[in-house]
Amino acid sequence: MSEASEHGQKAGFDTRAIHAGYDPDPTTGAVIPPIYATSTYKQDGVGGMRGGYEYSRSANPTRTALEKTIAALEDGERGFAFASGLAAEHTLVQALTAPGGHVVIPDDAYGGTYRLFAKVEQPHGLAHTPADMSDLDAVRAAIRPGETSMIWLETPTNPLLTIGDIEALAAIAHDAGARLVVDNTFASPYLQQPLTLGADVVVHSTTKYCGGHSDVVGGALVVRDLEVAERIAFHQNSIGAVAGAFDSWLTLRGLKTLGVRMERHCDNAERVVEFLAGHRAVSQVVYPGLEEHPGHAVASRQMKRYGGIVSFRVAGGEQQALDVCARAEVFTLAESLGGIESLIEHPGRMTHASVAGTELEVPADLIRLSVGIETADDLLADLDRALG
Ligand SMILES: Cc1ncc(COP(=O)(O)O)c(C=O)c1O
Repeated sequence: MSEASEHGQKAGFDTRAIHAGYDPDPTTGAVIPPIYATSTYKQDGVGGMRGGYEYSRSANPTRTALEKTIAALEDGERGFAFASGLAAEHTLVQALTAPGGHVVIPDDAYGGTYRLFAKVEQPHGLAHTPADMSDLDAVRAAIRPGETSMIWLETPTNPLLTIGDIEALAAIAHDAGARLVVDNTFASPYLQQPLTLGADVVVHSTTKYCGGHSDVVGGALVVRDLEVAERIAFHQNSIGAVAGAFDSWLTLRGLKTLGVRMERHCDNAERVVEFLAGHRAVSQVVYPGLEEHPGHAVASRQMKRYGGIVSFRVAGGEQQALDVCARAEVFTLAESLGGIESLIEHPGRMTHASVAGTELEVPADLIRLSVGIETADDLLADLDRALG
């Protein structure tokens, strides 16, 4: 189906999520894309490819359906699916930077992204400068004129939910002759569409909200500029870290319900925020939907709602934070986020243990919740019990 409805206007988000990437199979009428478990394709005479399919690293119809769907949801022109979020990131960096170049990255980037730049790209000659993305002057100061080719943004960030202004950062990047890359994993395309705000590339760990069921690891890139798309396509095929057919199918199935899931994640997160804000064992709740959150105004401008991740600090210090994590039952103690099930974690000892002792260290009394889509009353009762 094209992205326009039969009346010519752009189809709504949920319609695109369900129909944009695939028309029912002409042979059988199958309404859901088959899992094309094939590595190669019969040619009708040498070079006579059917639909351009030659070999499944280069393209596979199940992956194509996913790539078209995510491009439609991000309001982009081309999408690319990878074996993981980090595979997408590495491919992008190889496609758009060169040795001797420089990128500006968030000073609170996802740890794996930071490790990619510091331990993989830097030894190959790509320099980086961390900057506070919520401070536009700090970003301007981090740019090396003539050298910086990319500004990398996550918004909201993990676990402190810092907000970066996509429109303002796109303008800063473009003034410097650089591109703005936005990791849209936490918001998902349902809540925020960075390309419509001037960003050049969107990155996803589709492992999170896009897949949404904690059953598949994957990544994606989406762009509007077709020249950039060609460079990414070349590197996707040359590096080969592509999404397999089964993983593509699972991710596609998840994307079809992204809109309804995100509404429920947000509803439940708002209930959790309200509950935590009134609890005496809680000293601070961090959520961009709260007026006191420093990024609230920007988040209100660029996000539809404020997402399913809630962080909070407990009055009783680190031991109490660990105890709460251990006592929770409906909230499962686990890393990752964005699935249907609620998760609880202690960033200081779990996802962010590697930054302990650095300026990126997170408070020891901090707890991060990935609020799932269970019955909200059960989530509140569980937190109440866990907080003692
Ligand atoms: C914001 C963000 N970006 C990228 C990644 C990396 O994605 P993956 O784990 O799918 O490689 C993650 C993983 O947690 C993430 O949270």
